[in-house]
Amino acid sequence: MKIAVLAETAAGEKRVAATPETVKKFGALGAAVAIESGAGKGANIPDSAFTDAGATVGSRADTLKGANLVLGIQGPDPKGLPAGVALAASLNPYQSKDRLEAYAKGGVEALAMEFMPRITRAQSMDILSSQANLAGYKAVIDAAEAYGRAFPMMMTAAGTISAARAFIMGVGVAGLQAIATARRLGAVVSATDVRLATKEQILSLGGKPIFIEDEETKAAETAGGYAKEMSDAYKAKQAALVSETIAKQDIVITTALIPGRPAPRLVTAEQVATMKPGSVIVDMSVVQGGNVEGSKADEAVVTANGVTILGFSNYPSRLAADASALFARNLLTFVTTFFDKDTKSLKLPEDDEIVKAIRVTGGGAIVHPALQG
Ligand code: NAI
Repeated sequence: MKIAVLAETAAGEKRVAATPETVKKFGALGAAVAIESGAGKGANIPDSAFTDAGATVGSRADTLKGANLVLGIQGPDPKGLPAGVALAASLNPYQSKDRLEAYAKGGVEALAMEFMPRITRAQSMDILSSQANLAGYKAVIDAAEAYGRAFPMMMTAAGTISAARAFIMGVGVAGLQAIATARRLGAVVSATDVRLATKEQILSLGGKPIFIEDEETKAAETAGGYAKEMSDAYKAKQAALVSETIAKQDIVITTALIPGRPAPRLVTAEQVATMKPGSVIVDMSVVQGGNVEGSKADEAVVTANGVTILGFSNYPSRLAADASALFARNLLTFVTTFFDKDTKSLKLPEDDEIVKAIRVTGGGAIVHPALQG
């Protein structure tokens, strides 16, 4: 089996889908790995490190020639992908229907790694978790950098500095790491979510849970562990709670997402206007529509009352070396799990829970139920 790893082409994407470590392990399995020249540059992996690990390095065309499996961070340009090849990457399926159509037409069997089910067996293949964890950390570092004060309380001979107050909205993987990072830096942290299960998690990280508890929140979590879109009545209660809380915060990090839907709007411009000058908001959902009114992707917006609103379009790419290492290991685990040792090829059984969840194209068509119509 030949595995191809292309240089990413999306603007600002610095990650790479393989590392010398995973190349060696693919080699041990009996697979050959071809890497497009320069693919590792953004993650500080020179071509020579890949060749030392046993890969061949060459042009895009050479890399793709005869490939059975393409590994990517984001979905590659369908042009030039050989018919019959499997593709495992983060494909952004809801926003990339045209590209998926092109994969289907080109005979590519596309596997959307972000559709990996949240089951124990798939935990180490879960790119959303591995990347969101790093993103949550980076968001707090960004906030600390833009904040003109210190995070921890400091008692000095020149007087006392009070601790920053940080409010984390949305306590999934990114939010949990944001709580932990803000606490490590010395902030006083509070956090909120629609899923009641997160309350214990917030407490265990030393944060203060701020919650609306009603009948609806008891059922806010889907069987897959994700949030549902909430009713207008809930949203009104949540808005009142946010208004009460936000004016006292120095740092706000928002991470709220609902799969397949625009990000829920959690903070209005009026609420931002109640915050103190110098406060910093990081909207981690800026690309999915934004949790915060007025946030702009990859721009630092400063409001009339002196609040800085940040929002980057690709957080994991800003920690490209670590993010690549974890993403590449997620892919390695996936390939190893479905590698047939006898035929030395990838075998994806139709009835496997993981395969059913991630296969988006096959047999010339888009096959995933969530993408029909
Ligand atoms: P996500 O990125 O889809 O959303 C981030 C957070 O925003 C979630 O906690 C969600 O509940 C929250 N949210 C959505 N709407 C909101 C609103 N209106 N107000 C406030 N918060 C709102 O979530 P992520 O990080 O992917 O995690 C989802 C779940 O999956 C979690 O329970 C996590 O622990 C679980 N998980 C399970 C894994 C496994 O079992 N293998 C692996 C990774 C995550």
